[in-house]
Amino acid sequence: MAEFIGSIDQGTTSSRFLIFNKNGEPVASHQEEFSQIYPQPGWHEHDPEEIVSSVHSCIEGAVEAFKKDGNSVDSIKAIGITNQRETTVVWDIESGEALYNAIVWTDTRSQAIVKELKSRKGADELMQKCGLPLSTYPSVTKLLWLLKNEPKVKEAYEKGTLAFGTIDAWLVYKLNGHEKRVFVSDPTNASRTMFMDIHTLKYNPELIAFFGDDEFDLSNIHMPDIVKSSDAKAYGTINSGVLSGFSLTGCLGDQSAALVGQKGFDAGSAKNTYGTGSFILYNTGSKPVISTHGLLTTVAYDFDGTPSYALEGSIAVAGSGVKFLMNNLGFSFDSHKITELAGTVENNGGLVFVTAFSGLFAPYWITDTQGTIFGITQHTQRGHIARATLEAVCYQTKAVLDAMEKDSGHPLQELKVDGGMSNSELCMQIQADILAENKIPIVRPKMRETTALGAAIAAGFAAGVWKNFDELKEINTTGQTVFEAKMDTKDSAKMVKRWERAVNMCRGWLADD
Ligand code: G3P
Repeated sequence: MAEFIGSIDQGTTSSRFLIFNKNGEPVASHQEEFSQIYPQPGWHEHDPEEIVSSVHSCIEGAVEAFKKDGNSVDSIKAIGITNQRETTVVWDIESGEALYNAIVWTDTRSQAIVKELKSRKGADELMQKCGLPLSTYPSVTKLLWLLKNEPKVKEAYEKGTLAFGTIDAWLVYKLNGHEKRVFVSDPTNASRTMFMDIHTLKYNPELIAFFGDDEFDLSNIHMPDIVKSSDAKAYGTINSGVLSGFSLTGCLGDQSAALVGQKGFDAGSAKNTYGTGSFILYNTGSKPVISTHGLLTTVAYDFDGTPSYALEGSIAVAGSGVKFLMNNLGFSFDSHKITELAGTVENNGGLVFVTAFSGLFAPYWITDTQGTIFGITQHTQRGHIARATLEAVCYQTKAVLDAMEKDSGHPLQELKVDGGMSNSELCMQIQADILAENKIPIVRPKMRETTALGAAIAAGFAAGVWKNFDELKEINTTGQTVFEAKMDTKDSAKMVKRWERAVNMCRGWLADD
């Protein structure tokens, strides 16, 4: 009987469930968007219960389509999870109830907390221990905000019942059912909290102590056990719905999952996923490389207790910039139309849009800024703004790749791409053009559900569907598109220089707030 693998993909703006066959082809899927809550400027929340129910209904929807095609549910051999990272959920371990909305990775409300943490003794050593710089991005600063500002969270802390987890931990906990108390996280997710030692893949008591103070001893908070990304037992089973009793056997943060789905298993391979944000991961092999050029060190995957690491360039705004033009500025109701609009102008008309809605992440890490458009004249059309929005992601990608080259000492051979914006030919050509001096070809696979595929691979390994990387070799190899620079190197360099000037002009905008 044919074997299939299910994959829960819980992203920033939607949840999905996909079912893959053994050749890595998606045969059924269902997707649901859920509420984006923006209570104040810079704040971004999700309803944790809505996230769980959206996952359940995606499973129901995809399985129904799967069965309609004549497949049997019993042929689903394993289920993997991949998820938006850093987004922070707190709940009561006694009741299983969330105590506040999830604070999303893009949220910048913890700016003052970050400032205070940076002044603490030992702040300079954090990167060496956990691979992440202090910013509003990792989970810990969101947790601290919740402890200090939300009475229900403080109360649970005082009672000793406060549980903290990223979305993977919350989902696994809820999918198993509160009674079972399956409370685990994989290293690709745990490494995004700032509590995990990047060298040992265990919680580091020094890190936990660093973030505490006289009021809060963070070692009194319930945190998930860190288990391998691929594990037949640790993630438990789904306890309700059409897949009730089915095992969860793999889990990867979404960016690690995309690297796996792109089969970036060799040191030196890299991918960029243009999703809500854009995230470049460069496989550095079995040793963590601590960046000196503004990148993060993260776990690529840990399938068998011998982890692979990656350097990461996280860009906060990619597809969310396109959504901003649609939802906030009313440019169009359809994201394809935004790229079409960008194609109505020959160039950016002198416009640079620094899409710093969450400050700027890698490699800049500028927290005291907000989104800014430079170069507006009466010549400016909506097409120029659309184009500048796409270009902003491409400039940041170049800055990240330059930093990767410096950190690794090796120029990149090719950049594999996926995610929503990679569907745009125009955007990928702009990317290749902006990388003209780097001469890095952009390689886009035909099947771009690579994030979900990565989680399916993690789950499939634990269930014995695949046994080694060699068996995955032929997956998704035909029909790829390669984009190479068509722009003159000098023109490309001029655009990049203008972008860098705009970034520098943004610094300090929020300095006195
Ligand atoms: O670190 C945040 C990241 O995991 C979110 O990914 O795909 O929702 O942009 P995405």
